[in-house]
Amino acid sequence: MEKNFKRTLVTTALPYANGPVHIGHLAGVYVPADIYTRYLRLKGEDVIMIGGSDEHGVPITIKAKAEGVTPQDIVDRYHKIIKDSFEELGISFDIYSRTTTDIHSQMASDFFKKLYDKGEFIEKTSMQYYDEKANQFLADRYIVGTCPHCGSDHAYGDQCEACGTSLNATDLIDPHSAITGNKPVLKETKHWYLPLDKWEPQLRRWILEEHKEWKPNVYGQCKSWLDMGLQPRAVSRDLDWGVPVPVEGAEGKVLYVWFDAPIGYISNTKELMPEKWETYWKSPDTRIINFIGKDNIVFHCIVFPAMLMADGSYQLPENVPANEFLNLEGDKISTSRNWAVWLHEYLRDLPGKQDVLRYVLTANAPETKDNDFTWKDFQARNNNELVAILGNFVNRTIVLTHKYYNGVVPACGDLTDYDRETLREFADVKGNLENYLDHFRFRDALKEAMNLARIGNKYLADTEPWKVAKSDMTRVDTIMNIAMQITANLAIAFEPFLPFMSKHLRNLIGMDECKWELLGSVDIIAAGSMVKPAELLFEKIEDSVIEAQIKKLQDTKEANKLKNFKPQPVAENVAFDDFLKLDIRVGKVLECQKVPKADKLLQFKIDDGMGGRTIVSGIAKYYAPEDLVGKEVCFIANFAPRRLKGVESQGMILSAENADGSLVVIGPQGEVHPGCQVK
Ligand code: 2FM
Ligand code: ZN
Repeated sequence: MEKNFKRTLVTTALPYANGPVHIGHLAGVYVPADIYTRYLRLKGEDVIMIGGSDEHGVPITIKAKAEGVTPQDIVDRYHKIIKDSFEELGISFDIYSRTTTDIHSQMASDFFKKLYDKGEFIEKTSMQYYDEKANQFLADRYIVGTCPHCGSDHAYGDQCEACGTSLNATDLIDPHSAITGNKPVLKETKHWYLPLDKWEPQLRRWILEEHKEWKPNVYGQCKSWLDMGLQPRAVSRDLDWGVPVPVEGAEGKVLYVWFDAPIGYISNTKELMPEKWETYWKSPDTRIINFIGKDNIVFHCIVFPAMLMADGSYQLPENVPANEFLNLEGDKISTSRNWAVWLHEYLRDLPGKQDVLRYVLTANAPETKDNDFTWKDFQARNNNELVAILGNFVNRTIVLTHKYYNGVVPACGDLTDYDRETLREFADVKGNLENYLDHFRFRDALKEAMNLARIGNKYLADTEPWKVAKSDMTRVDTIMNIAMQITANLAIAFEPFLPFMSKHLRNLIGMDECKWELLGSVDIIAAGSMVKPAELLFEKIEDSVIEAQIKKLQDTKEANKLKNFKPQPVAENVAFDDFLKLDIRVGKVLECQKVPKADKLLQFKIDDGMGGRTIVSGIAKYYAPEDLVGKEVCFIANFAPRRLKGVESQGMILSAENADGSLVVIGPQGEVHPGCQVK
């Protein structure tokens, strides 16, 4: 049964302020949350959207140490970049705050204290790694060692990134501190644990029985966590960056970042509404919706709700519509590998194209499975959908209104059967949109809005006002009035998705009111009102723009290969006599051509000072044949001849394998007569 809510509280995962946000964050969390919130606002509902930066946690301290600055410097830098770029993209937070405010520290501290006083925590001592040189306990990320599973010598205390296995710090072979390089010692430390097992029956009932309507990816992940059985979770850490644990004997300990971050939703609401925040969090007629990515499901559906249950005065979320991941050009988005389209860079490189990104990320949203963002698809969606369908219809309508009526909207006359059929079709759009948006199906909702533009295009194409104008202007009045009403409907239907376009369009057609309830109506724009001259809502994106972005990613890939370069281990020693067995000579390339039906092979005619020889070499991927003609190369002259693709190769040309795996031919630095030996 549908519940009746009086207000909605939309929260969006607080991004870590140790880097800017990228398209994966946007598609997963912020664009859908913004669409949903804007939709409810258009309906006139009481809704607030809460966001902020997550400014605690170990990665921020690691970054600060690496740069020789304070953690506060790091979060100040990225909080500003993130906040500004969200604003420029039109993510319409009612507040975008941060977790280093006093209001937040106080609230997180009070939250812990209340649970502590109620006896909701278990105190446990355990052995943890301690760096005696740095005088501090080491968070899992600060311990590096050899992975017991794959042997990678760069595994962290919580995970091996080479093989993806989750680890305990004590599993690592040969652990050492990432701060000093020292071998850490195990030392006893006390922490507070939230017994999730205590809340398991309630969590099971709440999710598995009362929220069967949650998205299958979210419900499924919760079920598997619950079926595995919940364990107590530590909610404090030995660290000097975070909210101090507010009890005696807890010096040097802070709240675990995943304990304090979700409280950020509450403290940011309090900052926004010092008087009314409790109504939003504690009244059963508030609908709380947490927008998050799939890596945050356990924290929002299990840990945070258990914290709220332990407190006892808060409402639990009504839904947690987590998305899956967005990949980029076929590869997982990765901050450390710089494999991302960063929002602030997008806004700089493609100015004024906020709605295009919003559109593409919604059309491709990873709602039910991981999805891929490609620049080619971005261009195609802009050119073939935004420009060719939506922009084209609006443009034709406004241009024709100017051509026949000098921009004054004509009155609607008698409707034909075809007009009625068109109006019936577009009357369905409102209900369909609501159904999709209410169920967090934003891709389908966007398709439905686009369908309205398609209906408009078809209407103009079928009624051909430019032909009818030659004989029957009364009929043209009606056609253009209907086209103008469809245009006004587009401004409403698209507002949640493309707010910049909607505003521009409303300004062009003189539409003051943008209310959801007007959707489907055919008298939004009054006859006799003025429309401004047409302006393009979207512009075609040229190949050169897309190529520049693709090149940027290719450069990143190249840079990553070089960054990850590790020299091969040096081979076993050999005696000088063994070296002399190889007869290496200098030769000059006389001719070079591709070997037919072999992608990799080049066939060389070499001047070897001894009458010449043929050598076949697998370097066709790296050189055009003409590049090498006239060059001096080194080759092994006493390599036993072999046949390669039907050609006898009498030697081997020497190349160096570069860090990115490409081959570079080796030759003398000065001029050397062909046939001379290399020693
Ligand atoms: O995964 C993340 O980026 C976390 N900073 C999300 C926190 S969400 C909430 F709990 F604040
Ligand atoms: Zn491993």
